[in-house]
Amino acid sequence: MKILITGGAGFIGSHVVRLFVNKYPDYTIYNLDKLTYAGNLANLKDIEDKPNYKFVKGDIVDAEFINKLFKAEQFNAVIHLAAESHVDRSITNPLEFVYTNVIGTVNLLNAAKELYKAEGSTFKRFYHVSTDEVYGSLGETGMFTETTAYDPHSPYSASKASSDHFVRAYHDTYKMPCVISNCSNNYGPYHFPEKLIPLCINNIKHNKSLPIYGKGENVRDWLFVEDHARAIDVIFHNSKDGTTYNIGGHNEWTNIDVIRLLCRIMDKKLNRTEGSNEKLITFVTDRAGHDLRYAIDSTKLQNDLGWKPSLQFEEGLERTVDWYLQNEEWLNNVTSGEYQKYYNVQYTR
Ligand code: NAD
Ligand code: DAU
Repeated sequence: MKILITGGAGFIGSHVVRLFVNKYPDYTIYNLDKLTYAGNLANLKDIEDKPNYKFVKGDIVDAEFINKLFKAEQFNAVIHLAAESHVDRSITNPLEFVYTNVIGTVNLLNAAKELYKAEGSTFKRFYHVSTDEVYGSLGETGMFTETTAYDPHSPYSASKASSDHFVRAYHDTYKMPCVISNCSNNYGPYHFPEKLIPLCINNIKHNKSLPIYGKGENVRDWLFVEDHARAIDVIFHNSKDGTTYNIGGHNEWTNIDVIRLLCRIMDKKLNRTEGSNEKLITFVTDRAGHDLRYAIDSTKLQNDLGWKPSLQFEEGLERTVDWYLQNEEWLNNVTSGEYQKYYNVQYTR
């Protein structure tokens, strides 16, 4: 199997690449990534020399490049994670999200369609990794299921919703072997420190204020990133074509409670007086169109394929804090921009 994983130098993608490279030595894993600000090859240092791993630098928005790559490599499957992923950035620059998340996805679908429709095709799967944000916002009760109507509110979630629709359309129209999963908020190692949890870990470390949007009452359903990668593995190998699975942690927290827990964990880890980190919490202007609550019902995935989350949030958050404290160089390189020296890596066949 030759599998193309897009966005493999990002947060979740790097965990998926690592899992597949280590678990399946008989597969060749191609990691296609543009290395935007969110892509960092240091995330894959431990596996970069493995014989079944290849890095390809490239842009999914560039149709000509994508078509050439698919023709040359004859992939058997795609796991598509490359995206612009940060809601706040989508509010300031929506078009970038349309290019990468919508047009980039359609470019990949077109290239995969050529392989799938060719005589004697060995193309088996187009796996699109999506988000629970496509379902919009919940009130105080209820959960998102696979049949919840789409109702995106941010340019980011609108672009992901659009890409999901295209994937389903290619399954229905061209009978392509597509699957989609919609996952809740991930956390864990290699998370870019613009997102809530790693941003606050970094700020606590440097005694900087912790910006909480609005009153901190918004609820997210947190899942340890390695559990997401495991779910992708299970779905990739065992789901039926045309299926959608929701993936979630059954782990709802208000933002303010997440940050209070993080402050307590880091009081201990940094030998600070109990309660000192909480004083860094600062309430700031709310995010525009801020979704109130996300909660995923992953019963279908649990019943069909036997997946469930493996970690309690307190344990996962402590592991995450330990990772950031032990990987100062990674964090310093990201916050200083030093990691971007990898930008010059080129694809050579
Ligand atoms: P990320 O921002 O950390 O990584 C995205 C990766 O895609 C980066 O390596 C970046 O360089 C690459 N990329 C961006 N534009 C590209 C382009 N035009 N061509 C090629 N590569 C490009 O994102 P993440 O948090 O790891 O999310 C990965 C996927 O999972 C996304 O599709 C996202 O929508 C989805 N998702 C994320 C979460 C979450 O909590 N982070 C939850 C559910 C679903
Ligand atoms: O639900 C899945 C989604 O989770 C993914 O599809 C997105 O790619 C991913 O970025 C994440 O989106 P969120 O907007 O939920 O994540 P973020 O870490 O940006 O914010 C989490 C919550 O914390 C959200 O309610 C906004 C709030 N927040 C965020 C930041 C960056 C703050 O209060 N202060 C902050 O500084």
